[in-house]
Amino acid sequence: MTPLRRVSGRAVTTVEGLTEDEQSRWVSSFLTHGASQCGFCTPGIVCRLVGHERKGADLGNREIVDRLLAAHLCRCTGWQTIREAASEVSVEFPSRDLELATRQATLESDTPQIVGPQVVLGQGGFADDDAPENALVAVRDQSQWYVADSLHQARELAGKVQGRRSSLEPRPPLELPEGDWALTLRTCWVEPAYLETDASWCNPQDEPADPVANGGAFGGKIASDVTDVARELAQANDRVVRVLWSREDTVRHGPKRPPVSVGLRADGSGIFRLARTDHIDERIRPLLPKCEIEQVTIPGPPTSSAIRGAGWAEVEMLRAGLSGQAGWVTAPSGASAKATIANELISVEVRAGSPLDWVMFRSYCIGAAHMAYSWVTSEGLSVDQNGDVHDLTIRSFGVLRSSDTPEIEIINVGDGPNLAAGDAVFAAVAAATWLNRGCPSDLPTG
Ligand code: FES
Repeated sequence: MTPLRRVSGRAVTTVEGLTEDEQSRWVSSFLTHGASQCGFCTPGIVCRLVGHERKGADLGNREIVDRLLAAHLCRCTGWQTIREAASEVSVEFPSRDLELATRQATLESDTPQIVGPQVVLGQGGFADDDAPENALVAVRDQSQWYVADSLHQARELAGKVQGRRSSLEPRPPLELPEGDWALTLRTCWVEPAYLETDASWCNPQDEPADPVANGGAFGGKIASDVTDVARELAQANDRVVRVLWSREDTVRHGPKRPPVSVGLRADGSGIFRLARTDHIDERIRPLLPKCEIEQVTIPGPPTSSAIRGAGWAEVEMLRAGLSGQAGWVTAPSGASAKATIANELISVEVRAGSPLDWVMFRSYCIGAAHMAYSWVTSEGLSVDQNGDVHDLTIRSFGVLRSSDTPEIEIINVGDGPNLAAGDAVFAAVAAATWLNRGCPSDLPTG
């Protein structure tokens, strides 16, 4: 994200410019600890850490590594495995079965994944990386697409300006239902914050490139229009066309988990009000059968029930709040999890069968735990009363930094068939975090 003018006259080293020894040690340590999932953030993080390793920094010191990671965002891993990889980068590790690791990651992401050296070194197969050099480029402004020979020209045509962080505080958009409630919960708009913004490219005679690439985007890219747009524009121009969403497009037009506003009585009856979202009732009703579900049309970005745990994670939080304890939570995959938070440690027990690969299983569970803890305590997107999104940079979403994230412990107590565990861990940690904060009505709790 650094403008070229800021590095004028300086030497820039990318991951390709690291020595063979550096590449090999960092790849080995990242793979051994599961420190890379989609891999979009990884080359930048590796370069920063190597830069400081060369200057003799103590990468076993959490405070130092936290400080170095503050300039980055990793949405997938929850930071912990990256810190572990940094602290053991000089250890020689035996090679392990990356085929099993790949299958474990694919199960968790619900989309084909790769685990291997190429992902750590920035070759994760992201859609826009593979576009032919002479492709036209298309960018959007609202629902209008602008096509030009270069990204710069397309942005100029579209009148694109860099998004910024707003001074408007995020607030829950739905009023509480009227009533005498034992428990209330209101949530804000939040950004899924997957790192690779939606992108595709298409040859007029072929199928478009898949925007999901090496990351599942936490359900955020399922309905992305970039493939249809790439196909249409390629045929209209009879040329290969790259289609790119900017970060601002992702925030404005990408789907969010629906904000909720809930009042519950002690017996579980009450009103579960939420932003209108297809198929969300079926997630909520079985878990809160006595509660009325009220879908409301409100101005704002689109919502989707495909976003991780949308609707039912909030229900699990409320059930924990009513009972006063965080019990076992079962995800649609059949996996269950139970979390406790004490003394700066998030401890999660998981029943998800026997993992094919413990390293990736643990990595995905830690990532899901971080995402839940971050959502409940810190994340929110500023959206005004007209539904316009104001927080448009990746730093404005409130994703918790490494330095603010407690240690996360994953204990697998399951056996039998291997199940995707991330969603269960997400809901269990969200419930335990809310309980730990005393069940305040509004998220984020701080
Ligand atoms: Fe860091 Fe996906 S691995 S953002």
